[in-house]
Amino acid sequence: MTDLSTRYMGLDLKNPIVVSSCGLTKALQGIQNCAAAQPGAIVLKSLFEEQIVAETAALTAESVHATHTETIDYLEGYGRLLGPREYLQLIRDAKKTVSVPIIASINCVTHERWADYAKQLESAGADGLEINIGFLPNDSSENSTMVEERYERILHTVRTHVSLPLALKVGPYISSFAHLAERLGNDRVEGPPFTVGWCGPGETEKKVRWRGADALVLFNRFYRLDIDVDSIKLAGGNPYSTSEESHLPLRWISLLAGRLQCDLAATTGIHDGRDAIKQILAGATAVQVCSTLYQNGLEQIGVIIDQMQEWMLAHNYQRLDDFRGQLSQAKSANPDEHERMQYIKALVGIE
Ligand SMILES: Cc1cc2nc3c(=O)[nH]c(=O)nc-3n(C[C@H](O)[C@H](O)[C@H](O)COP(=O)(O)O)c2cc1C
Repeated sequence: MTDLSTRYMGLDLKNPIVVSSCGLTKALQGIQNCAAAQPGAIVLKSLFEEQIVAETAALTAESVHATHTETIDYLEGYGRLLGPREYLQLIRDAKKTVSVPIIASINCVTHERWADYAKQLESAGADGLEINIGFLPNDSSENSTMVEERYERILHTVRTHVSLPLALKVGPYISSFAHLAERLGNDRVEGPPFTVGWCGPGETEKKVRWRGADALVLFNRFYRLDIDVDSIKLAGGNPYSTSEESHLPLRWISLLAGRLQCDLAATTGIHDGRDAIKQILAGATAVQVCSTLYQNGLEQIGVIIDQMQEWMLAHNYQRLDDFRGQLSQAKSANPDEHERMQYIKALVGIE
């Protein structure tokens, strides 16, 4: 018998298939339907930082951060239906009625205004929190250090408010991703001068213990901008991914696995058992699925699990750890050539 159990961001999961944050997990019935399909965990639909802030300030629909599918979703009405209080109730109700771990999700762009709310998510019973940094670095006055500090500040602020397992879902638009991943995913002790001005009053002299995220989720799939040449207007691209898009998380998971203290989860382009197996061979602890559930129904979770078990049996693997990370750069006999040789092989001979 194969054993698909895994420990992800400090949570024991029956299997590594996680329903990613999306409309399927926005209401209790949807969460119960997902749970019936027996995934390893469920990430709730994100609550927006703007929604939390809107409790005290009026929100205009003219969000400057309208770059994600979920942002559009929010502006189209979801956000007005489900506020921060209802979100806490959704967590309580979900925890009462399903046994699959429930991971709350916040889509945020800053660290300042919503960290207290994270405490309430913890009190409501969430098993973990996924922070989706829904931020497209398109402001030329913000340099790469400022962009990276934004990520670090968000993580540090939430860390100081809650002891919940934390995952950071990040975008790929970072100039030195391996460097940032190390800063976000590893623990360290930071002394003055602090790279990020996160220490509180009177703390400037002492060392600050930095705790990295429990998991990095690679990568946010940004809203696809398209152009309709008939109407000559901006248009939204396909909200659903294809398996072809899984090469981006695959590359970075294979490069980072075994080098960080935190877990890595893949999101974007995982549609079937083979896609999931690839990510685990690269070093993922969990894989998140979304588009394939919209396209094939929730029963696809069972299909992916069956396909994984069949493959494991055929290759004589009993547990995920028997092959996890086998094709990561860290386990490669020629780490320097891990990617370069594939690149050369792929291009040589093509005229
Ligand atoms: C309709 C829809 C709504 C989504 N809403 C959210 C959200 O609220 N928060 C979030 O982090 N990701 C959201 N996503 C992104 C998914 O969680 C996932 O990362 C992305 O779709 C890529 O995975 P896939 O290739 O399996 O679809 C949404 C995706 C879709 C299609």
